[in-house]
Parts: sequence; C-alpha cells; structure tokens
Amino acid sequence: MTDTNKIVQLKDIDVTFDVDGKKIEAVKDISLDVNKGDVFGIIGYSGAGKSTLVRVINLLQRPTAGSVVVNGQDMLKLSSKELRQARKNIGMIFQHFNLMNSLTVYGNIDFPLRDSKLSKKERKEKVEHLLDLVGLTDRANNYPSQLSGGQKQRVGIARALANDPEILISDEATSALDPKTTTEILDLLGKLNEELGITVVIITHEMDAIKQVCNRVAVMENGQLIEEGSLLTIFGHPKEKLTKDFVDTSTQIKSALEEIESSGIVHDLSGRLIELQFTGDVTNEPIVVGLYKKFNVSASILFSNMERLQGTTVGIMLLALSGDDDKVAEAVKYLNDLKINVREINLSGSESAK
Ligand SMILES: Nc1ncnc2c1ncn2[C@@H]1O[C@H](COP(=O)(O)OP(=O)(O)OP(=O)(O)O)[C@@H](O)[C@H]1O
Ligand SMILES: [Mg+2]
Repeated sequence: MTDTNKIVQLKDIDVTFDVDGKKIEAVKDISLDVNKGDVFGIIGYSGAGKSTLVRVINLLQRPTAGSVVVNGQDMLKLSSKELRQARKNIGMIFQHFNLMNSLTVYGNIDFPLRDSKLSKKERKEKVEHLLDLVGLTDRANNYPSQLSGGQKQRVGIARALANDPEILISDEATSALDPKTTTEILDLLGKLNEELGITVVIITHEMDAIKQVCNRVAVMENGQLIEEGSLLTIFGHPKEKLTKDFVDTSTQIKSALEEIESSGIVHDLSGRLIELQFTGDVTNEPIVVGLYKKFNVSASILFSNMERLQGTTVGIMLLALSGDDDKVAEAVKYLNDLKINVREINLSGSESAK
C-alpha cells in the first residue's frame, strides 16, 4: 500500500456536494499518484473540480468516498491532532494570496510559526531565510497593501514554506498576475522543487504554465480525470479532445488555422493540408526535402512551432502537400513511419486522423 516514491496516493476519490437537495458530483472516481519530486500539473476549465480534488490531499475537503495516503499515512485514519501535524507537511498558495493585511510581510511569514518549538532566535533566522529565498528581504516591514501582486504571492510562498513542507500546492497562484510575473513565480516554484526537493502540485487552466515547469500533467473535465501522463506525452501526443484543445491554444496552431482558412491559400496551392506533431530526434530529418526527393510531393510550410520541453524538442507543423494522390498517400505513410503524428485537416472544420 505504501510506495515510498509516491508522496500522494489518491484512490477512487468521489466528492459529492449537496446543494439545496441537489447532488453536485465535483469529483468522480479519481485515482491519482504524485511522485516525490514531481512538479505535477492539473489542468481543466473552471468548475472541472480541480480545487476540490487538491483540497482532498490535506483533507480541507473530506472525500465522500475513496482513500487518501500522503507520505505513507492514511489521512482518513488520523486523529485531529495528527491531522493538524500532517497538514504542516502540505503548504498551499492561492490566487488571491490570502495574506493578513494587518500584518507586515515579516509578520505574515512568521504567523504559521506561532506555535512552533523554535526559539525566538531560530524563528527570526527562519523568517529571514524565507524572506531571502523569495527575494523580499528589503520588504520585510511593508504591509501587503504596499506590494505588487507578484510580491504578495512571494509572501504567500514564503508563508507556505514556514513549516518546511514536503509538498506545495498551488491553486491558480498565478491567475491574477501578468505574464512576466507569472513566469517569475513559476520559476520560483521550479527553483523550490529543484533546490529544496519540494514536490509541487500546480492547478491551472493554462497549458503555458504547465509547459514551463511541470514534468507530469493530469487533465480534468466535469469532475473526472480524463488524461494523465508525462509532459512530453501530453504535449506531443494528446489523446483526448480537451487535452488537444489546451495544447493547441498554447502552440497557437488554432489561430494559424483560422488565418489559413480565411486566406484561401490552401486552395491556391491545390493541395492537402496536414498537421504534423513530433517529439525528439525526428526533427533532425530533412522532412520537407525528403518528401520531394522520395515522392515528388512538394510541401509548403504554412505554420510551425517548435519548443524545448525538458530538454526535448516538441514540434507542430502545418504543411500543404501537393503531388499525385497516391504519392501523397505514400508520403503520409513515410511521415507516420518516422513516428510523426499525421493528421489530415479538412478546412471545412472537420479533421480526420490518418
Ligand atoms: N463547498 C461547495 N459546496 C457546493 N458545491 C461546491 C463546493 N465546492 C465546489 N463546488 C462545486 O463543485 C464543482 C467543482 O468546483 P471546483 O471549485 O473544484 O472547480 P475548479 O476546477 O477548481 O474551478 P475553477 O477553475 O473555477 O477554480 C463546481 O460545480 C462547484 O460549484
Ligand atoms: Mg479552483
């Protein structure tokens, strides 16, 4: 039952709310493991059940059914005193920071230590160390109202780390921030993961945030976990439509397709439009030249997006192919054999897998 590499084990979790006699199934039969050292992303639209699910990890939300094991401890069997202790191992940060406005930055970070066994001196050193860790040493005496959103979230992070948690849960912690500040906060979470070995669980509705720091991803829809995998698998080979939607938004292929459609360029080329998706070494192949040399099929690149994710290239490309029908079919097979995902795109809006 206890696997030491698995720091969070959720099994068959249901959460049902009763609102005015009406049942709301916020989480339906979700099983999910987070490994020690993961930066685990949970993505889904509003109302998917993300917050409810992560609140089950520290039992801020008790599940209607299922089991919750954190660090080998069955959370549902703990006494309230043991639970209070176990919760210290799980820090949380939120979209609206939840800082105490009447306390200074220092006071906010010190607050979770109010009943710790540290001496006065140790406690002061701890707060100063946390201030330094999040880059706010010179803001110690400011009040939250004197800080920018990014700085407030840094206070939130320092406060969440006060009890040396092994797990940090971020519930839309960057949703109220601008893109640059979002990147900085995500970088900070990545640094905490790398340097302190903290396992991070990030909830978001943006694939870009996931791409920046996560190594594993779960996709939620209507209370269910519909897809889960490594960042590269989810990004390079999404299976479910919703997953693909999230990926497509972040690669901007959607807007590219809309532009191509309205420009009429594919009709001018009298060709077939295909989408290629690939990960890793295949990108060293001279694909476009190969299609021409081997099959006499000419390929125009209409859109391409390549990114480095965890040291691996992940690419997506739209090609307009023209040539003899049977040669084009051979060319598509050749691409498939190179482990490139090929999808034919029919510009009337429907798409078909090849
Ligand atoms: N305490 C509660 N009482 C009743 N219904 C709730 C409660 N908490 C959540 N819900 C419902 O459960 C569903 C999932 O909500 P949840 O907040 O987990 O979604 P979410 O994915 O975090 O959404 P968002 O991205 O907007 O934060 C929603 O239909 C919500 O209204
Ligand atoms: Mg939420």
